[in-house]
Amino acid sequence: MSSIILSAANICKSYHEMNEKITVLKEVNLTVHSGEMIAIIGASGSGKSTLLHILGGLASPDSGVVLVENQNMATMQERQRCHFRNRYLGFIYQFHHLLPEFSILDNVCMPLWIGGVSSEHAKNQALDMLERVGLTARRKHRMAELSGGERQRAAIARALVTGPRCILADELTGNLDHATALNIVSLMKELTRETQAGMILVTHDLSLAAMCHQRYTLRSGELLIVE
Ligand SMILES: Nc1ncnc2c1ncn2[C@@H]1O[C@H](COP(=O)(O)OP(=O)(O)OP(=O)(O)O)[C@@H](O)[C@H]1O
Ligand SMILES: [Mg+2]
Repeated sequence: MSSIILSAANICKSYHEMNEKITVLKEVNLTVHSGEMIAIIGASGSGKSTLLHILGGLASPDSGVVLVENQNMATMQERQRCHFRNRYLGFIYQFHHLLPEFSILDNVCMPLWIGGVSSEHAKNQALDMLERVGLTARRKHRMAELSGGERQRAAIARALVTGPRCILADELTGNLDHATALNIVSLMKELTRETQAGMILVTHDLSLAAMCHQRYTLRSGELLIVE
């Protein structure tokens, strides 16, 4: 049995808007194992991004506990939490957030530089990762010179270069055509197996969700397993 990378227990979250309470998450439970890629699907506004932010320690739940590698970010000081996130988690978004003025290689080096890795070592690790996602020939290019699929592959390389234990991806294929999206999710699956990290993929696309080991749907605040 593979080990548990991330666990969330009884996560509740509501927003308060003009005297109105919007309950987004009701007692959500989730476990992600090493080498497991799971999909979270659900209608727009069902709370997928909210849940992902809470799992990644970017937002706090009203109640409930998230553990990543058995550690609770909620009890850490902000500085320690940032360091923990940089070390253990990787984030990929629909809009890649690559820095336009830097080369793709420098973009992939960035999280290593932030983590204090020497520039020579960072460069070598980033080059390995770029090779892994098939972007070696594009390393000196800037974001504007890449296709949508290439940008997302660069974003994957940037998220994985630090060797995170869990990757949180929010609609990373949302802007891509279907063939490119399938390609990107296959790559993610391969990388999940190789790195034995946990992977959480938020998607609207059922055929992409079908490629994952486990599927969940968020409906009326509840996270339900899809058989
Ligand atoms: N900061 C906030 N303040 C108030 N309400 C919020 C806030 N963030 C999200 N919400 C509300 O919480 C609900 C869930 O939003 P969320 O962004 O998590 O949905 P989602 O499933 O990711 O949707 P989409 O598929 O459109 O990205 C929505 O009704 C949204 O309006
Ligand atoms: Mg969202």
